[in-house]
Amino acid sequence: MSFTIRPATPADLDAIVAVHKAAATTPGNLARAPEEVTPAYGDYAIASDICLVAVEPDGTVIGEIHARRETIALFAHVLGGLTVAVHPQRQGQGIGSRLFDTLIAWARAAQPEILRIELAAGAGNPGAVRLYERLGFQHEGRQAARGRLPDGRFEDDILMGMLLF
Ligand SMILES: CC(C)(COP(=O)(O)OP(=O)(O)OC[C@H]1O[C@@H](n2cnc3c(N)ncnc32)[C@H](O)[C@@H]1OP(=O)(O)O)[C@@H](O)C(=O)NCCC(=O)NCCS
Repeated sequence: MSFTIRPATPADLDAIVAVHKAAATTPGNLARAPEEVTPAYGDYAIASDICLVAVEPDGTVIGEIHARRETIALFAHVLGGLTVAVHPQRQGQGIGSRLFDTLIAWARAAQPEILRIELAAGAGNPGAVRLYERLGFQHEGRQAARGRLPDGRFEDDILMGMLLF
């Protein structure tokens, strides 16, 4: 099924929250549990420096990506706080890749310059790590026991970055 990518607007709030809640039902993928995906989180996403949604022809939101430019001058060329979610029924259909392609194109054209994009993924989310590798993100490190899953197990975080120069 076809879809388009466009900037999010405040009118997308409920739909963005719904997509993240649905994606969060698989433990260990998104950092937030479903009950932590609140309207306040949706507002935070939409207020990011870049917030894009993937929409079906009828307007249904099926994916979202957002990220923020660092505010301290030393890091002002860095885009971080990146989170992406695609509705579980639409995963594996190229939507996440297109959201990233659009975000990276935006970052390359941004002024002041963005020269680095960074993200983290749980070690138990190898599909996402594979996607980020394919997009050109490099492995930069590992944070031991950064996450703790609902069953009490610890999980490492994998740090990845992409330079735009
Ligand atoms: C990770 C995610 C955003 C990727 O979006 P997508 O639209 O499914 O990805 P695409 O179809 O563009 O690309 C497919 C690739 O994504 C990865 N992937 C991750 N989760 C996947 C899933 N549930 N189904 C299929 N592919 C998935 C795989 O590497 C796959 O490549 P492969 O075919 O070589 O295995 C999406 O699967 C998702 O929302 N997952 C749950 C939330 C999450 O994990 N977010 C990232 C937190 S770091």
